[in-house]
Amino acid sequence: MRNVDCAKQKIRAVIAGSRVPEDPRHADNTLEWLLRLEPDAGDALQLAALAHDIDRAIEAIKVKRADFDDYDAFKAAHARHGAEILRPILNACGVAGDIVDEACRLVEVHEVGGDPSSDLLKDADSISYFDVNLPLYYQREGWAETKRRSLWGYRRLSARARKIVENINYGDDEMVRLLQEVLS
Ligand SMILES: [Fe+2]
Repeated sequence: MRNVDCAKQKIRAVIAGSRVPEDPRHADNTLEWLLRLEPDAGDALQLAALAHDIDRAIEAIKVKRADFDDYDAFKAAHARHGAEILRPILNACGVAGDIVDEACRLVEVHEVGGDPSSDLLKDADSISYFDVNLPLYYQREGWAETKRRSLWGYRRLSARARKIVENINYGDDEMVRLLQEVLS
């Protein structure tokens, strides 16, 4: 097996253990959106797309929202911890050092972006939140928190990604209404 395929398999196996029900679907869906936005995305970006939320998958060591007053500080710690978890997985599969470094860097900045590659990852992640996470997030967290989270996600989208999110059809009146409130 290719080193990168070995790594993807291990990442998926770890994320399958997440207690957040949407996590496995979100990981693959983020990779799918990345490849729609950039069909030529390289191995480092693809690995980062799949693994960007790997921190959430390991209940015993994951970064906890309740430990942070500030949502952005929580997200930064989540991203940094994800990169720490990812590195030994990639190394164990023999992924080339430059790809390991870049994939871990991308996971570390996936919430904020700042360069073309991490901006692509941020867009793919945020589109996927609206595509697959939002309905399940709503069931768990309720209207007010889901609206806050959705506004946060919408604001970090590029103009191109906003167009994609605006055209998502939930087939559920309440989700359509929530998205309308976020967009207005
Ligand atoms: Fe994510």
